[in-house]
Amino acid sequence: MTAPILRRLSDLRALHSEWRREGARIGLVPTMGALHEGHLSLVAAAKAACDRVIVTIFVNPKQFNNAEDLAKYPRTELADAEKLAPYGVDAIYVPDPDQIYPEGYATTVSVTGLTDVMEGEFRPGHFDGVATVVAKLFLQSGADEAFFGEKDYQQLMVVTRMARDLDIPITVHGCATVREASGLAMSSRNMRLSPEALGKAGQLYPVLRELADQLQAGGRFDDILPAAKARLSEEGFGELEYLDLRCGETLAPLERADRPARLLVAVWLDGIRLIDNIAVDPV
Ligand code: PAJ
Repeated sequence: MTAPILRRLSDLRALHSEWRREGARIGLVPTMGALHEGHLSLVAAAKAACDRVIVTIFVNPKQFNNAEDLAKYPRTELADAEKLAPYGVDAIYVPDPDQIYPEGYATTVSVTGLTDVMEGEFRPGHFDGVATVVAKLFLQSGADEAFFGEKDYQQLMVVTRMARDLDIPITVHGCATVREASGLAMSSRNMRLSPEALGKAGQLYPVLRELADQLQAGGRFDDILPAAKARLSEEGFGELEYLDLRCGETLAPLERADRPARLLVAVWLDGIRLIDNIAVDPV
């Protein structure tokens, strides 16, 4: 059975009150729709941990720093509802835009430090948009637990910090990245890659894996980075925005994997911006 689709905050609040009376633990999975196996893994994690699960679908204009990217973002609400049906989701919240940003809306939630680098550097304003909408979804839903993907690792760090800093009583969980057989991280944007580009995109993960292996063998990041960059351009990737080794907690840059670390990348391919990251265990 497909879950009820709610478009008004008042309907979400009514359901929330009913579930609270039942003593239910409420889980939240925020998304922008165009659901794939990556999103559905978050839904499965939420169902396993919570009594009631709300999936939200909202293409948040405030987090797009590129009008074309926003315009081209896939919108597939019916198909999304069908994909969610087997999971026994309890509600799908697809807020009308004025339920999130009513007339005169004037507040921004901004997380400093963590947002200065990588995605924050190349997508100005992006994390303010993310932190603002996620803070609203946390508060509107009153959920106890929220589920995010490690696919967007910096985003996971930012929303975790934001909830802590604002004393929002919610536990943020990070879930492992779901990948295609090639290793390509699943993403709604992959739908826009040509079959040829999709083949090339599958080379990104092996490059990250090889770097991780070299770091595990004690390599210095600056020594092994040039060969990885050369390999990406040989494979046909376009502009490399960043390929960084960073502390898995603070996102501070690292020279070596001498503590739990993360390799993070953003690179263009065929007019599509791909991001990915993997964990590197301490040497
Ligand atoms: P969206 O890109 O739709 O992603 C929704 C959630 O799914 C995020 O937590 C993201 O990290 C996770 N996700 C995406 N691809 C994944 C994969 N391959 N494996 C595991 N998880 C994956 O991220 C957003 O939307 C928005 O910024 C949002 C948080 C909804 C705020 O608008």
